[in-house]
Amino acid sequence: MVIPNARVEIRDFAVRHPRVYRILFKLFCRLGTNPRPPQLFNFVGGEQYHELGLGHFRNLCGIAGAVADDRVLDVGCGIGRVAVHFMDYLNSAGRYDGFDIVALGVDWCNRRIARRRHNFRFRYVDLYNAEYNPSGQLDAATFKFPYEDACFSLVFATSVLTHLLPGAALNYLKEISRVLEPGGRSLVTFFVINSESRRHMPASAFDFQPTNGQFWTMVPDNPEAAIAFDENLIRDMYRQANLELQSPIHYGSWSGRNGAVGGQDIVLAAKR
Ligand SMILES: C[S@@+](CC[C@H](N)C(=O)[O-])C[C@H]1O[C@@H](n2cnc3c(N)ncnc32)[C@H](O)[C@@H]1O
Repeated sequence: MVIPNARVEIRDFAVRHPRVYRILFKLFCRLGTNPRPPQLFNFVGGEQYHELGLGHFRNLCGIAGAVADDRVLDVGCGIGRVAVHFMDYLNSAGRYDGFDIVALGVDWCNRRIARRRHNFRFRYVDLYNAEYNPSGQLDAATFKFPYEDACFSLVFATSVLTHLLPGAALNYLKEISRVLEPGGRSLVTFFVINSESRRHMPASAFDFQPTNGQFWTMVPDNPEAAIAFDENLIRDMYRQANLELQSPIHYGSWSGRNGAVGGQDIVLAAKR
């Protein structure tokens, strides 16, 4: 298992001792009840599990207008960093589904969150991703989300399409559109390449380089570690997915630009 963007020592430990890490994770998961994991098991990266999750939750309320009876899909739910903030927000008419490709994270969410909230449910899907699930068997570019058409009012993916190649990203936007009810909203974060981010990038920690495959990456020998798309391509993918952008893109601070609202860029759209 690869632990991206997390503290180096955690990643090193998990890579060097995958079995020990798994056993520790599973034991800990079964023994406690706190829905927030210790940093050792925060495989989604960053030291600030609580702050980052809270930031995404606030954007979902403030930008996407999440309400208590929304039917929510969390695409790439990780280890519940956003879900924990919905536990006391959704009412009994609301529903929360999530899926991810890291079994340990889904197991955590089911044991620590879904056991305490009957309307929360998380699924594991064995999709290939070079960064998160290199032994995965399914292809994200053709994967059909395991949900009925039009069954969600709000679908989001935070820091997930930043790990998908273009074919998978387009398929995910089409699937988001399929499972959204008409008028339903989607919030997806990206690293958006445009003239302004290009101007700032070289001085930032996110110095993406172009590839010949319609995307940019910071890690050429493992692109799925961090992927960026041109803004025009993103807009075109939204058109193909029948999702209508609802407001100007909320540009994040990742590239070092001014006037930013947070880390990654946020695209809010509605199902036509
Ligand atoms: C940086 S983490 C973000 C996790 C979560 N969205 C959050 O904000 O806490 C990226 C997540 O995307 C998941 N992921 C990668 N490829 C995926 C795919 N094809 N489908 C669903 N999830 C995927 C990873 O397993 C990981 O949990």
